[in-house]
Amino acid sequence: MTDLSDSRPSIVDLAEAIQNHTETISDYLSQNSLPELSSLSDGYPFFPGTGPPHLDRYPKPPQKVLDARTQAREACESLMQLITGPADQYFYYITQHLNSVALQYLYRFRIAESVPLNERCTFQDAATKAGVDAGQCTRVLRMAMTSGYFQEPTVGYVAHTAGSMLLLDPNLRDAAGYVVEESLPASGKTVEAILKWPQVEETNETAWNLAHGSDLPMFQFFESHPARMERFMGAMRMMSEGEGYDIKHLVNGFDWKALGEGLVVDVGGSFGHCSYSIADTAPKLSFVVQDLEKVIRTAKTERINDRHGERVKFEAHDFFEPQPIRNADVYLLRFICHDYSDKYAAKILANIVSAMGPKSKILIVDGVLPPPGTLTKAEERKLRILDMNMLISFNGGERDVEGWMSLFKRADSRLGLRHMWTPPDSALSLMELDLAQGESVVSPT
Ligand SMILES: C[S@@+](CC[C@H](N)C(=O)[O-])C[C@H]1O[C@@H](n2cnc3c(N)ncnc32)[C@H](O)[C@@H]1O
Repeated sequence: MTDLSDSRPSIVDLAEAIQNHTETISDYLSQNSLPELSSLSDGYPFFPGTGPPHLDRYPKPPQKVLDARTQAREACESLMQLITGPADQYFYYITQHLNSVALQYLYRFRIAESVPLNERCTFQDAATKAGVDAGQCTRVLRMAMTSGYFQEPTVGYVAHTAGSMLLLDPNLRDAAGYVVEESLPASGKTVEAILKWPQVEETNETAWNLAHGSDLPMFQFFESHPARMERFMGAMRMMSEGEGYDIKHLVNGFDWKALGEGLVVDVGGSFGHCSYSIADTAPKLSFVVQDLEKVIRTAKTERINDRHGERVKFEAHDFFEPQPIRNADVYLLRFICHDYSDKYAAKILANIVSAMGPKSKILIVDGVLPPPGTLTKAEERKLRILDMNMLISFNGGERDVEGWMSLFKRADSRLGLRHMWTPPDSALSLMELDLAQGESVVSPT
């Protein structure tokens, strides 16, 4: 088989690799009677078995098939680049924002809802239903079609594809809305923000602040804009549904039962989804979910089908104030530190340190950037997208091991990283910190 570690594979090498990997994939699909891969409206939304278990009815494929998929994607991307050539590639690279503009239009005018399911309609009918100009709507839809969102089965008609149907899912719609209405306007202000505030540490001196005309950090601003907060939460739910961000990694990746009747403080725990999931597997543990006042108020009113009663409590607490719960067994911070520059992430940690007892731990669940060159382009791109979004919105960012160590030192010199590990298939690592002196064990898997 072609060795793709060669840094200059020819287009024929790449095509051969694609042939080999796609045969492995195709054999697997047909031998297991799995759906054919299709981007049409009846296409299955996931590569079978790689979606979140509650949405994807097929079993996870064997590692050999997953590897073939990764390699095929990598080879396709390289082949596409070579065949396109740097100059044409450059044109597409510098005009990528126009895809986002098309998405912004589709989102705002609810075009996906205006196209019937499983049948075609005229562009005019879709536009009339959405209450927009037919000519503009046609132009935007035809732009989106070049990326596989919607199709024109007959001239003048529009129909859904597997991709455009995703816009009908509430969480995926929220994710698109957050991207095109919060992040996209902010993206265009990134350089302006850096020129205005070169220190890049403050949470309210960001591209998002310039774009949205607010002096408040994004989450504080959302407190008085509940619909935008709700939308952000939907986007977070969508992320958590992806394999890499599944809460199961947090639940299975730590020995919660060993804490017995202990107490976990879920700092910035939102509506308590992490605590609820852990509570399901560790029946003796108690939890306090802390978040901003309005989030906690909503969380309390939305405790639908809550089986955990008194075991999961909610408390309004600003993590920039001293932590009121002393001597908890675990202070959990999932997806918190990457939202902040070291200056603020260190404050959050320092506030917890002053409440910790000798047996308390901080458990950070966040990304850890691997050394350059160790990921495929697709994997690296996913991390970089998250990193850029943190920069634009919060002046936060993803950290590598050195970045995390330097943050812990800045928070409190007594704080020691005891373990760092990444559960299989998880995009997030777990970092266990305590105040005991001793050797750190940093293991990437
Ligand atoms: C990215 S979400 C992470 C939620 C959850 N931990 C998870 O893993 O899905 C960040 C959370 O921090 C909360 N938050 C933001 N600023 C806060 C503050 N100053 N004090 C407490 N919570 C805050 C937000 O409301 C939001 O729920």
